[in-house]
Amino acid sequence: MNIGILTGGGDCPGLNAVIRAVVRRARITYNWDVIGIRNGWNGLVDGEVEPLTLYAVSGILHRGGTILGTSRKNPTLEHEDIERIRDNIRRYGISALLAVGGDDTLSVALHFHKEGLPIVGVPKTIDNDIYGTDFTFGFNTAMSTVTEAIDRLHTTAESHHRIMVVEVMGRHSGWIAVMSGIAGGADMIIIPEVPYDIHDVCEKLMKRHELKKFSIVVVAEGAKSADSDEHIVQDEKLDEFGHIRLGGIGYLIGDQIEKITGIETRVTILGHTQRGGSPTAYDRVLATRFGVAAVDALHRKEYGKMVALRSEEIITIPLEEAVLKNKNVDMKLYEIAEIFFG
Ligand code: F6P
Repeated sequence: MNIGILTGGGDCPGLNAVIRAVVRRARITYNWDVIGIRNGWNGLVDGEVEPLTLYAVSGILHRGGTILGTSRKNPTLEHEDIERIRDNIRRYGISALLAVGGDDTLSVALHFHKEGLPIVGVPKTIDNDIYGTDFTFGFNTAMSTVTEAIDRLHTTAESHHRIMVVEVMGRHSGWIAVMSGIAGGADMIIIPEVPYDIHDVCEKLMKRHELKKFSIVVVAEGAKSADSDEHIVQDEKLDEFGHIRLGGIGYLIGDQIEKITGIETRVTILGHTQRGGSPTAYDRVLATRFGVAAVDALHRKEYGKMVALRSEEIITIPLEEAVLKNKNVDMKLYEIAEIFFG
């Protein structure tokens, strides 16, 4: 057996831990060869592959990013790309494939599964919004990075008696904002799942300022105001999956807060610092468990499935179920966060 592995979509800490675990499990337990596909689905279109030996994956556990590279290529848009993928799968003798990625990469995996390619998915995203799994690796690392940033912003906010707005990632859901907001003691958290009213936000902040002369506001990039259905974007261009480049809502909210409250406000956009760097111990372990479980799923011929964390167990669920919708923030968690607003 010759299995291929690719990493697609935005990178995240823990991808290398998955790759390492896959190669170890495949080589040592099943005596399978592993072929690394470069740059997500692009590598399968262009035939950019390399053998992944035990040596090639040693020493990568703690490294952020992905040694295979990644892309946001959607190969299902062009018939020619689909043909080239079929040819390359034959040419390199790939008998089964592991696709490590978010909802976009996994929806492409589902497409090829329906075409008859033996495939298993591994969920990945710092956003933690993949349906069917309690957590995705990368999220814990991002959460730690954001919490540390909030801690740092606290001391400067307090010294200058300012409001600090921190914009974090989270396209469809506000998991990073809520979890790191709770961990960092945020005074307001604005997420895509709960449209915000800027006057309500300001009222709470002004009330807080009667008590404490500084505040921290965490906002997820995908948040929308209650009176508009528009996202704040950096660029109108869509990627191959139809996503627009979000970012900048922090500046809008920061301006509005300063105007309405009269309190000096500063904005920090954490951006890709949230995706970079070494994975936390939690993410290394989860990614390793996912990698091993994905190879085991291939061994059991559980094609068209995705590995997932449910309570403490790693299970498999149909890819079809996983890509159906996003996993939104649990409102019970948001209610806990709200206790500390204002
Ligand atoms: O999908 C994860 C994510 O980090 C989103 O939160 C964010 O909107 C997007 O990736 C940014 O992607 P890119 O690095 O391609 O700009």
